Amino acid sequence: MKILMFSTREHELPAIAKWIEENGNNVQVDTIEEGLSSVTVDKAKGYDGISIQQTNPIDDAIIYEKLKEFGIKQIASRAAGFDMIDLDQATKNDLVITNVPAYSPNSVAELAVTQTMNLLRNMHLINRNVNTGDFRWSANLIAREIRSTTVGVVGTGKIGSTAAKLFKGLGANVIAYDAYPNEDLKEILTYKDSLDDLMKEADVVSLHTPLNENTKHMINKDNLKLMKKDAFLVNTGRGGVVCTDDLIEALENKDLCAAALDTFETEGTFLNKVIPHHDLTDPQVKKLLNMENVLFTHHIGYFTTTAVDNLVSTALNCVKEVLATGDSVNNVLKLVNA
Ligand SMILES: NC(=O)c1ccc[n+]([C@@H]2O[C@H](COP(=O)([O-])OP(=O)(O)OC[C@H]3O[C@@H](n4cnc5c(N)ncnc54)[C@H](O)[C@@H]3O)[C@@H](O)[C@H]2O)c1
Repeated sequence: MKILMFSTREHELPAIAKWIEENGNNVQVDTIEEGLSSVTVDKAKGYDGISIQQTNPIDDAIIYEKLKEFGIKQIASRAAGFDMIDLDQATKNDLVITNVPAYSPNSVAELAVTQTMNLLRNMHLINRNVNTGDFRWSANLIAREIRSTTVGVVGTGKIGSTAAKLFKGLGANVIAYDAYPNEDLKEILTYKDSLDDLMKEADVVSLHTPLNENTKHMINKDNLKLMKKDAFLVNTGRGGVVCTDDLIEALENKDLCAAALDTFETEGTFLNKVIPHHDLTDPQVKKLLNMENVLFTHHIGYFTTTAVDNLVSTALNCVKEVLATGDSVNNVLKLVNA
């Protein structure tokens, strides 16, 4: 069985080597850095299966037609998302599309906890002070312990519920808001009837909803105003859940104390690139990078060895499964049509 992995990144190589070792001698996995496109699709000729990892749309019909012509039966995405794939074209060309729906909720949940602790300990201020030789115990650096805080988790699915358990384990009082509350979590947290109620009561608001038409700019000037002046916002969900202009204004007006942001609406313009700050194109991102009450990370929530191992091995297992059976438990068409 010969598999070609498009868009392979260096950090995936150990996980790929491990999967090859576990899957015997009759598998050959080749890797290339380029993504799947009308220019690169010919590289798939001679392979039995392919895997991709990319965020740009794969929208040229020729790609799907050529894959069919080469006898390829599937595309395995090494991501939860599959919105970059044209499902109509895939269906038309008999390609089974698979994804990795859950690869390690702990990876993102642990970043939410890490950034909450960093904010509570005022690391955004302390790092700047230490870098300029200011070693004083200034009054604005005194921290709150997490056991004295109420953490508000917005979205209690796979990642949010994991984060809630971690926060609870550290001693926080955990409240939550979800469009579909989960009864199994009632020992861990208390659901609020509305997002506004959560925003008013929480010392830390941690966001874990998907981005969709209901959640776009769900956090905006109306509810940011409700937050406690010494509260923090942590976004490891999706950038578009927060109205960034409103957040910048609220941070400037001190409606809340500080924010930790891992995802941004325009992150596609800078992720996985080296760009000097002055060359960044998004003025909001430039501004956030210069604000002393913002902790900025570049979509690193998922970036752990466990998560990358799971992404790679699940995607490659899906290739094997489709080649052996013609279908997969992670067939996204089943999800879309469910
Ligand atoms: N930072 C990262 O590296 C990273 C990595 C993976 C996922 N994520 C993001 O984390 C988020 C959560 O992922 P997950 O796997 O836990 O998803 P999930 O589907 O398991 O959970 C999402 C939860 O949000 C709730 N929800 C949906 N719409 C809502 C609304 N309008 N109001 C309140 N609650 C609502 C759902 O009921 C569900 O409980 C997603 O946005 C995902 O893109 C980030």
